[in-house]
Amino acid sequence: MNININEKDRSFKIDTDNTSYIIGIADEEAFIGHVYYGSKVEDEPLYLMRTGEPPFVPSRNNRDRGSFMDTFPCEYPGNGLGDYREGAIEIVDDGGYSAVGLTYDGYEINDGKPRLTGLPATFENESSKAKTLIIYASDKVTGLKAELMYSIFEGSDAIVRSVKIVNSSDKDIFLTKVMSASLDMDSEDFELLTLHGSWARERQIDQRPIGYGKTSVGSVKGESSHQEHPFMALVEKGVSQEIGRVYGFSFVYSGNFLAQAEKSQFDSVRVMMGINPGNFKWQLRPGESFQAPEVVMVYSDEGLGKMSRTYHDLYREHLIRSPYKDRERPILINNWEATYFDFNTDKLLAIAREAKKSGIEMLVMDDGWFGGRKDDNSSLGDWNVNEEKLPGGLKYLVDEVNKIGLKFGIWMEPEMISPDSDLYRAHPDWAIQIPGREGTRSRNQFVLDLSRPEVVEHTWNSIKNVLSSANIEYLKWDMNRQITDIGSFGLNKENMGELSHRFVLAVYELQERLIKEFPNLLLENCSGGGARFDPGMLYFGPQIWCSDDTDAIERLGIQEGTALVYPLSSMGAHVSDCPNHTVGRVTPFETRGHVALAGTFGYELDITKILEEDRAMIPEQTAMYHKYNKLVRSGDYYRVASYRENGYYDCYGVVSKDKSEALYTFVQVKGRPNYHSRLIRLSGLDPDKKYRSDESTEVFYGRTLMKAGILIPGLWGDYRSKLIHLCEV
Ligand code: DGJ
Repeated sequence: MNININEKDRSFKIDTDNTSYIIGIADEEAFIGHVYYGSKVEDEPLYLMRTGEPPFVPSRNNRDRGSFMDTFPCEYPGNGLGDYREGAIEIVDDGGYSAVGLTYDGYEINDGKPRLTGLPATFENESSKAKTLIIYASDKVTGLKAELMYSIFEGSDAIVRSVKIVNSSDKDIFLTKVMSASLDMDSEDFELLTLHGSWARERQIDQRPIGYGKTSVGSVKGESSHQEHPFMALVEKGVSQEIGRVYGFSFVYSGNFLAQAEKSQFDSVRVMMGINPGNFKWQLRPGESFQAPEVVMVYSDEGLGKMSRTYHDLYREHLIRSPYKDRERPILINNWEATYFDFNTDKLLAIAREAKKSGIEMLVMDDGWFGGRKDDNSSLGDWNVNEEKLPGGLKYLVDEVNKIGLKFGIWMEPEMISPDSDLYRAHPDWAIQIPGREGTRSRNQFVLDLSRPEVVEHTWNSIKNVLSSANIEYLKWDMNRQITDIGSFGLNKENMGELSHRFVLAVYELQERLIKEFPNLLLENCSGGGARFDPGMLYFGPQIWCSDDTDAIERLGIQEGTALVYPLSSMGAHVSDCPNHTVGRVTPFETRGHVALAGTFGYELDITKILEEDRAMIPEQTAMYHKYNKLVRSGDYYRVASYRENGYYDCYGVVSKDKSEALYTFVQVKGRPNYHSRLIRLSGLDPDKKYRSDESTEVFYGRTLMKAGILIPGLWGDYRSKLIHLCEV
């Protein structure tokens, strides 16, 4: 990896092992232009190809400045000065004007990567160092300055971008839009791949042509959301797992976002990603700065699979900080689908005793243990134990669970407040709301106004008191509604547009305090299932609950979409009871175990009530988890076949980094008549190594298994599955 400046040509070249990114400074006015991003190229004056013929630049032809602005491939486009494509930054200055244009002032190239104040961000580690380019730019009229930051890591093909805006004028400037990255590319007929969803159906892969005008996904819900995901990829038509050009963009942020591709009249495509400008207005006083979150760009010319593996490695090695990152997580049993709100100490202890016999290692008590909570209509904010359900309190329960030989974990939803709660009765103004407008309830709850420091302090004390009251080793941090009624009693009218971002910053601050104060706690984030499954949250906790849909077949699509960007070690996945509570489907217990194995693995059922034959399978499954988890956690992910595409079966694998071991999961979603066995061409193996599967004495070269395939014997019925474990011989 390297970052070079060519002083003579005024261009910057960022090289990862397999990709290059080039920025050029054009004309006497020093416009910052985007020159190239793609497969690695030589150090040649490529900028010449992109910065336009000399007569066309404003210093030679000011008569047509507007045409120049509207066609120039700009690295970080401004607003209102002739470029009619969407700008990356928009402002309102002291005079009420909205024009802004950033031109080059200078640069720095440094070893390492600076932290981003208050924000989650990738970092260098001992074995993979970083390098960073900062380009300094300014708007010569308003005095607004920008620092465009680009970082790369040894051994990774990711390029991480972010932007810091500084007000160096002596007047207030309002930022109404600050994208974290913008990229002007030639169109090349790309398609846009995004992850679409809804509650219980998160992150389904969606691909569509990029037509003229703007194609975008985003969230204004105060969280990254069930519906759209802070990720997009521009892909070549016909892209597959192994073939085709792919540009991935992933946003390290957990709130409102915008991801957009805009195809212009000249067939260029402007891609941008950042905080959604909807409801956003940030006051920057003289001398103040605004740090935008970062975007991770990955280019692959070997299809989607390589892009996914680059993201997985980067997020495992350079984003997740938890001590559990490289550790086997305890196999937990969560009581949500077992009991919902109807539980007490006796019920939980009965589950714990039975769980212990089967090799389960932790009991997690979900929603319903606090205040007067009987259902989802009350008590959020009253984080004191409900002694009617749990006589003797948390300490008694946790001690008893520990005596049985299990660890203990707990559920909280710290960002919320129920209208029917002591907290709300004492502080009705602590809910996000607009005076004079009845607050919009969702799940009969409001969102706490975390833009107010006293609310953050109170929330932190509640979390700390709960976690310090007993030997609690795991926290499931939930968030079950989106934000509406953007209004705060703590902000004045100039600053109301800061609420959504301030809320996210406060969540980050709370989680930072949490992991500092309780460094050995295992944190699993969650948001009504997977509405806040994003890189921002992974910076604080190593795993996120993927979805409230625990049906093994629904999970195939959800986990496929999630694994497009995120490592399997981050995907919360449990075996649950049947008929499944979300879709009513009945699947074999074995298949539910195989599918959950591709995530963190655990249980979400009443183990005292399930079928005896299912319960008898649990010791085998927990042993299977211990046998394969290291491989699943640290290996390379290969998508072999997708039920979404073929309608019949799914197959994915994990291959160890040294390619000596591999585990493939095959799920036959639909049985097929007169079709007894299936040849599957594996991927990811070393062609020159020889492998044997656990079930066979035959030995095959990796090349054979990848080119000719492996025969999966006929499985009888729908929803049947099989693991194929290969070891090098
Ligand atoms: C939503 C989560 O995704 C569920 O697992 C459960 O914790 C409920 N919230 C509890 O209210």
